[in-house]
Amino acid sequence: MSLDRSSLQEQILKLKEEKRAIILAHNYQREEVQDIADFVGDSLELSRTASTVDCDMIVFCGVSFMAESASILSPDKTVLLPEEAALCPMADMIHVDSPRRVRKSFPGFDNPPPYIYPAEFTLRDIKAKYPGVPVVAYVNTTADVKAESDICCTSANVVKVIESLPGEEVICVPDKNLSMWAQKNTKKRVIAWDGYCNIHERVTPDDVRRARTEHPAAMIMAHPECRLDVLEAVDHVTSTSGMLRFARSSSAQEFIVGTEIGLMHRLRKENPEKVFYPLRKDMICPNMKKTTLQSVLRAFLENSHLVKVPEHIRVPAKRALDRMLAIS
Ligand code: 13P
Ligand code: SF4
Repeated sequence: MSLDRSSLQEQILKLKEEKRAIILAHNYQREEVQDIADFVGDSLELSRTASTVDCDMIVFCGVSFMAESASILSPDKTVLLPEEAALCPMADMIHVDSPRRVRKSFPGFDNPPPYIYPAEFTLRDIKAKYPGVPVVAYVNTTADVKAESDICCTSANVVKVIESLPGEEVICVPDKNLSMWAQKNTKKRVIAWDGYCNIHERVTPDDVRRARTEHPAAMIMAHPECRLDVLEAVDHVTSTSGMLRFARSSSAQEFIVGTEIGLMHRLRKENPEKVFYPLRKDMICPNMKKTTLQSVLRAFLENSHLVKVPEHIRVPAKRALDRMLAIS
């Protein structure tokens, strides 16, 4: 039986009360999913909320690494990811160790800056190459990669996290664009990985030039998962919630938004007097869009899909997340 939007919302809210649950949603979720959530935010805010919220169950509307982080931080709560196949391809671009590894030599290790390494190597390879150099794992990683890392970061705090570490070098995985942005903003040497988000990677400086011509009065914002030549051409580089703060506090009336289009919903809702244009209309993350009101209702009815990280991975992964939360 198909239900209309308000019946779906009504049923979800009823089950949420019954199960003492809260719904967390990332800024890229569908509008109707954001509207039913108790809290909508960026990766950092959602991690912080997951670690402090008082409830029995968290229904995480986002992608799997986000629900994993909630489970790592709140092991006593039932954490559900409504769509099991909502994955982040970038998180699959680095593995702790891989039986599929094909090459044993390290041709990339002598590359000149910005020190990018081929993604077919593993995290353990790069750690062995740079013993003692701290590893910063972007939260867009699997739990076992976090467990092998010293500290996590998000797009909102990467520079602060790098600056908090001892020594003059850091390994930063897996997003090369975030790492290059961090390299531009720190004196430390950033040893980067060759991962990327294909949604943000597709933006080019030509898109920025076109946007400026079409909307000369607009401020252009971009997410640090975009290429460095794009980031150097825009007015403000920040996380998704950083864009919300910037749009709220800026005196500008028009903004070009260089991130996944799901953020447009909150930008428009919270700033009805301002105008927002996407930097590219095709910045749509198919994984973030998998979650619907139907899947949220099914999650409540079927207790699916349960996300649970084994203790031997959860404990070291939590250490890396806790270190990040302590300095953010
Ligand atoms: P934020 O941490 O800025 O919310 O970004 C998460 C993400 O997946 C970006 O693609
Ligand atoms: Fe992953 Fe990119 Fe989607 Fe963010 S937008 S969840 S980095 S694929």
